[in-house]
Order: sequence, then structure tokens, then C-alpha cells
Amino acid sequence: MSEETFYDRVGGRPTFEKLVREFYRGVAGDPPLRAMYPEEDLGPAEERLRLFLEQYWGGPKTYGETRGHPRLRMRHAPFRVTPTQAERWVRHMSNACDTLGLSPDDDHQLREYLVRAAQFMINAPEDADAG
Ligand code: HEM
Repeated sequence: MSEETFYDRVGGRPTFEKLVREFYRGVAGDPPLRAMYPEEDLGPAEERLRLFLEQYWGGPKTYGETRGHPRLRMRHAPFRVTPTQAERWVRHMSNACDTLGLSPDDDHQLREYLVRAAQFMINAPEDADAG
């Protein structure tokens, strides 16, 4: 007997597609955050984030197969992730979560994780002119 994963319970692929689509819609409309993303096309970044989150929550292991070990703090080292940028990141994730209509328990679990993960990714002090 296999246990149902969070990934399955919340609706699998379509749910994660929606989460990252809504998230990157927010990023695209947020110039200071958007400026951190090196590629002109956010599509590939959107896919990497989706594959990572799907794997984390018990879905397909495609992220690891194509990108290797996540080592996310290391992968973020080239970017200045300040507390303010992390706050922006969380705000867009939170807006994206609002669109999913998850059960209260699943919703809580997902948001808690995203807030904690974003805190963990901070690697630079606040810019003097942050805002
Ligand atoms: C806290 C604020 C954060 C900022 C400002 C930020 C910014 C970025 C940027 C600029 C990239 C490069 C875009 C790309 O080419 O993929 C990136 C990649 C990525 N981020 Fe974040 N990130 C943040 C937090 C997070 C968190 C909390 C997670 C996971 C829960 C995450 C997961 C990823 C993944 C999976 C990639 C692609 C890594 C790869 O395979 O190359 N990020 N992020």
C-alpha cells in the first residue's frame, strides 16, 4: 500500500503549474524582483521552480534527474537575496496560493514551507535604499 503524497492530494501537476504560473505573473509585474532574473524569458525559470516543488512534495523526480542535487542556497549565491527581496518573493507566492483553493491544512502546510524556505535563502543584508 502506498501512501498518498501531498503532491497527489493537492491535485498533482496542474496545481503546481498554476502555483508557479501565478507566482511568475507576480514577479513579471514587480520590477525590483524581476531585475534579479537574468533571462529575458521567465519560462525556463518557471519550469525549474515547478519541477523542484513537485519533487519536494512527493511528485516526479524530474528536477533531480535533470538538475542534480538542489543545493538551493548555493544556486542562489550569485543573486543578492535581501530580506526585502525575500518578502517580495513570499508575497507573490502567497498571492499564488490564494488562487489554488486548497484545504485549510494543505494551504497552511504549503505557505509555512514557502515562508521558511524564503528565509533560508536570504544571503545579503538589506540595501540602504530598499523599498
Ligand atoms: C527568497 C527569495 C528568492 C529569490 C529572490 C529567488 C531568486 C531566484 C533567481 C533570480 C533564480 C535564477 C532564475 C533561474 O534561472 O532559474 C532562482 C532560481 C531558483 N530558485 Fe529561487 N529565489 C528565492 C527563493 C527561492 C525559494 C524559497 C525556493 C524554493 C522553495 C527557490 C527555488 C529556486 C529554484 C528551484 C531555482 C532554479 C535552480 C536551478 O535548478 O538552477 N527560490 N531563484
